Amino acid sequence: MPTPASLDVLPLSPGDRDAWDPLWQGYLDFYEHALPPRINDLTWARICDPAEPVGGLGAWADGTLVGICHHILHRSTWAEGTNCYLEDLFTSPSSRGRGVGRALIEATADAARKAGAEKLYWQTHADNSTARALYDRVARHEGFLVYERPLV
Ligand SMILES: CC(C)(COP(=O)(O)OP(=O)(O)OC[C@H]1O[C@@H](n2cnc3c(N)ncnc32)[C@H](O)[C@@H]1OP(=O)(O)O)[C@@H](O)C(=O)NCCC(=O)NCCS
Repeated sequence: MPTPASLDVLPLSPGDRDAWDPLWQGYLDFYEHALPPRINDLTWARICDPAEPVGGLGAWADGTLVGICHHILHRSTWAEGTNCYLEDLFTSPSSRGRGVGRALIEATADAARKAGAEKLYWQTHADNSTARALYDRVARHEGFLVYERPLV
């Protein structure tokens, strides 16, 4: 399917909350993970706060929010500039395979570059073959594995 004719990727802003909620919920459902409402509120507030290192972009097609992508800028011990971690990417099921995910990654890379980042990186589950089909087209898998140790 072709990319929607009027796809616009823009920074998420406070007035987008009602459109963001169902996509964020869809993303959490995809990971079978529930968050307390106060964390959803906090995450949204951080996305909209220019003083925060957290940012978010939304992809709009014909006035409908069809995808979201959140990122976090952070320092690195290996570089003078920052790095950018792409934490969440989700496109609405009805808009998939039309270049929305790719457009969000490219726009996040542009935004991160403008903010002084030297690298954009992200992770996904080894079994997420759909996401990996996209990621293998826009980035390189360097072979690192992710370890986690809960602290609370
Ligand atoms: C992964 C996800 C974000 C992809 O979004 P999308 O809008 O469908 O992606 P795009 O249409 O931009 O895909 C870009 C490329 O990947 C390919 N691709 C996408 N889905 C594919 C699939 N199911 N099988 C094969 N290739 C696929 C496309 O062919 C396209 O390649 P091209 O641009 O060279 O033609 C979306 O499927 C999603 O939200 N999944 C659920 C949540 C998720 O897994 N998020 C990522 C977690 S890390």
